[in-house]
Amino acid sequence: MIHLVTTLRETKKIAKEFAQKIKNIHSLIIFLEGDLGSGKTTFTRYVLNYLNIKDFKGSPSFALVNEYTINNLKLFHMDLYRINSKETLVDIGIYEYFKHCAIFFIEWPNLLEIKPDIVVKFSLANTYRSIEIDWC
Ligand SMILES: Nc1ncnc2c1ncn2[C@@H]1O[C@H](COP(=O)(O)OP(=O)(O)O)[C@@H](O)[C@H]1O
Ligand SMILES: [Mg+2]
Repeated sequence: MIHLVTTLRETKKIAKEFAQKIKNIHSLIIFLEGDLGSGKTTFTRYVLNYLNIKDFKGSPSFALVNEYTINNLKLFHMDLYRINSKETLVDIGIYEYFKHCAIFFIEWPNLLEIKPDIVVKFSLANTYRSIEIDWC
């Protein structure tokens, strides 16, 4: 499903619908694909807000992983932009995280050897953005 968006408000609306669809699922791997600045972190922030996470920590571009808990649900937001090899992913112990039953939002997932449940693709054109959501 492709949505064209021109404002943050529209992104927010799509995030709300998305949050409603995933809110009762406790184990989910979501890949967020798209260039720098295409809206991955913004979308994640809105979805987390709708899932009742009030302390969004921003982009984990340096921490690599931000962790949240709501009730008993664990949620991880990863940004693997700075990782440049598959070996590094193993070395930093990224695969340990996937032993958790949790929801994973992953920016720059391309080196990761796991399969997503949902792929969200973001793109940025001159006059609009697009958000494509595919359930695998
Ligand atoms: N739908 C939108 N309309 C207008 N600006 C947006 C929209 N989505 C994101 N942005 C803006 O684009 C910039 C980069 O967004 P960000 O989510 O950090 O991108 P990414 O995580 O893909 O690098 C931010 O300033 C954000 O506010
Ligand atoms: Mg980002």
